[in-house]
Amino acid sequence: MSTLAIHPSILSCDFARLAEELDRIRTAEAAHVDVMDNHFVPNLTLGLPVVEAIRAVSPVPLDLHLMIEEVDRWGPRYAEIGAQSVTFHVEASRDPRTLCRDIRSAGASPAMALKPGTPFADHADLLSEVDMVLVMTVEPGFGGQAFMADQLEKVREVRRAVGAAGLELAIQVDGGVSAETIASCAEAGADVFVAGSAVYGTQDPAAAVQELRALAEE
Ligand code: DX5
Ligand code: ZN
Repeated sequence: MSTLAIHPSILSCDFARLAEELDRIRTAEAAHVDVMDNHFVPNLTLGLPVVEAIRAVSPVPLDLHLMIEEVDRWGPRYAEIGAQSVTFHVEASRDPRTLCRDIRSAGASPAMALKPGTPFADHADLLSEVDMVLVMTVEPGFGGQAFMADQLEKVREVRRAVGAAGLELAIQVDGGVSAETIASCAEAGADVFVAGSAVYGTQDPAAAVQELRALAEE
């Protein structure tokens, strides 16, 4: 049915060599870029000018994960600069419906993200507005954390809801996704897999992407 995709998180790469690091994941469908503002999460990464610079030097499509408070204001700006998808947190958006429409009209796919403690049922009405649902499998903020297996039930719940609504949505998992955990995510219904340390923590990130994809397809 749907095609599986591996999106390496550049949070785990060498920020002083972004262009080269993106070249090392040429086997991936897209690069996952974690934008953090030190308010929505207790960490600070990069913002619009750096994402724009990445976009200019690399042909790799960008999957932007916005962990920021002012997402209604900034989300459409990130869409305008040519991102493939812009993911906002439902916990941060005041008007997610308008935000989805603004992101789409700016040329990107809107996606909604749920922190581990956020029930999907409270936001299920947004399914018709988004192209992807991101189920966080760690508390957002940092790479290299342990996978939260209890979130797989939420992945199953989203997959059931998507099927029941007759929609064609992608389900993404992010946090602790590795060779050990990716098959359980795929089995639960995820089809887009973000992996930071499991890709950039290896000698050969391009090969790690292919290995992860093979494990997800099994
Ligand atoms: C965490 C970020 C993740 C992170 C994943 O808030 O959203 O994208 O980079 O890193 P790993 O794969 O190492 O858990
Ligand atoms: Zn992320």
